[in-house]
Amino acid sequence: MKRSFFRNSLLKFGILIVILVFSGCITRPTYVYLTWQNDPHTTITVNTLSTVREYPIEIRYRELNNPNSPENILSKSPRDFTITEPHRKINTFELTELKPGEIYTFTLKTNKGRFTKELKFRTIPNDGKPLRFVVGGDMGILPSAPKLLKQAQKLNPQFVVIGGDIVYENGDPNKDWMWDIWLKHWTKYMIDNEDCLIPLIAGIGNHEVNEKDPSHPSTERAPFYFNYLAQCEKTYFYKKFEPHLLLILLDSNHIVSISDQVNWLNNVLEQNSNYPFIIPVYHVPMYPSHRPFDGAISAEQRKLWLPIFDKYRVSVAFENHDHTFKRTKSLRNGVVSSEGTVYLGDGCFGVSPREIKNHELGYLEKASGIKHFWLVEIDSEKLTAKAVDIKGKVFDEVIISPR
Ligand SMILES: [Fe+2]
Repeated sequence: MKRSFFRNSLLKFGILIVILVFSGCITRPTYVYLTWQNDPHTTITVNTLSTVREYPIEIRYRELNNPNSPENILSKSPRDFTITEPHRKINTFELTELKPGEIYTFTLKTNKGRFTKELKFRTIPNDGKPLRFVVGGDMGILPSAPKLLKQAQKLNPQFVVIGGDIVYENGDPNKDWMWDIWLKHWTKYMIDNEDCLIPLIAGIGNHEVNEKDPSHPSTERAPFYFNYLAQCEKTYFYKKFEPHLLLILLDSNHIVSISDQVNWLNNVLEQNSNYPFIIPVYHVPMYPSHRPFDGAISAEQRKLWLPIFDKYRVSVAFENHDHTFKRTKSLRNGVVSSEGTVYLGDGCFGVSPREIKNHELGYLEKASGIKHFWLVEIDSEKLTAKAVDIKGKVFDEVIISPR
């Protein structure tokens, strides 16, 4: 009697699982995450990543707090990402002509006619309200990464910048599972205190790039960076956050050479020299805390980019790659100066810290092996950068005046 009851229960459970699988209720998740291809005040890019069974083909969105706002619909076929197994369907919905500083709700319709739950995002205000964002690099998928993301979430940033070495898959299609884990962490924690998804601005690092010959297209050399994150088609770009900040992402010789960015960098800074704060973010430090000062990339960046930073009085630069915490003295052409730039880093947003080696070179104000990220707050009076550790404790702070 007992045995037949057990057998019947098992059979019913099995049938339920089969029904759920075939009805699509049990599928691998679709990850939904935000980037920007254009202006952060009036656009947003909703990225979706799915396995082939079910995937978004349409987005419906409207302003949250305006009952008269119409529902907008944007339909788009996904593209196949076939170098992974299973293949992925990637869709990129760029929403434009949005109002600055507004919350929007959206749902995604799948190829099977179902809708996701309602999600939200927020455009960046352009009316002088303070700006607040998190920046760090070298994240990966070790347990410290989601712990730091959880602390970042508590600080309610408007966006997060990662200065390269995001997942550590090395551009290898066989490591697609690492992105699944990273996206699971990202989508779990990158939601603000009003349930809006928090956008990502991603710079490139050495661990985004595989060993293919540079003659291959950049989309093959850094396949996940270019296909999973819809941003700019280049690895160096800028974003303007009115009226406070010109944010510049640079490529430390991973896809594009340092010299090939010089004219572009000069022009961007010349044309935007009115911003009170200019912040470059790049992967390899000019003032390393762990690696040798004379490393080839560090030395070339100092030779080619540093004079431009100094000419336009860059406020603060975020460096990564060395897996430490560091704050330099205010430096101009390598010499301590009140008119200089403070270099903050050095990329320890989830990876294991390394030893500090360059104290004796004199440019480090403070450095240690602490996992952390930086919280940056900017208003018309000042920029405040706070280093936050894995427990959420602020253990360093620097205040910078407008240029
Ligand atoms: Fe790196």
